[in-house]
Amino acid sequence: MEVYNYSEYYLIKHLMTSLKHYHYITYLHSIRVAKLTYLVSKKLGLPKEEQIYNCKGGLLHDIGKVLVPVAILDKPGSLTELEYEFVKIHPSYGAEMLKIFPSLKDLIPGVLYHHERLDGSGYPFGVSIIPLNAQIIGICDSFDAMTTKRPYNEKRLKSIHEAIFELKTQPQKYNYKIVEALEEVLWDKKGDQQHFISIRDVQN
Ligand SMILES: [Fe+2]
Repeated sequence: MEVYNYSEYYLIKHLMTSLKHYHYITYLHSIRVAKLTYLVSKKLGLPKEEQIYNCKGGLLHDIGKVLVPVAILDKPGSLTELEYEFVKIHPSYGAEMLKIFPSLKDLIPGVLYHHERLDGSGYPFGVSIIPLNAQIIGICDSFDAMTTKRPYNEKRLKSIHEAIFELKTQPQKYNYKIVEALEEVLWDKKGDQQHFISIRDVQN
């Protein structure tokens, strides 16, 4: 079944509203990731069209989480193997959700591959050839997960420096050029003062 009657704008708005009511923390995370993805795409010199397309992919990258039980998403501490298997399906769920809307089909690769890693250690497929937009989304996603406090996350929050260091020291997993672009975005120099863009501002 394909649904042709809705514009891309309203579909994204509708899906984001569903995510907002299902799991507000993931909704806020998605907005931050979309913003960073847009800025990194811009920093990499990608065409305007791609910057916007990647931003939309960032918004919807975790939409498949609406099919993962909240009890799992909010579980403090570590997940059981079975629960983790559930979480690992969310990129495929998300791709399935977008598939029925022809106007959103182009966003599928960013959603489906954002947890894949260059060394093949990611999921759901464990592939090592990953579309560029999914690599950008994946890096912004990892950065946000490392630096943003979540009620169920018992791990110590990383500083921006620590998070960038962790990404930079794993070039086998993360595209180094993208991580460098992210670092530049985060620490855009303004005069003598290092200026951290207000990604935390969209949190509340
Ligand atoms: Fe995800």
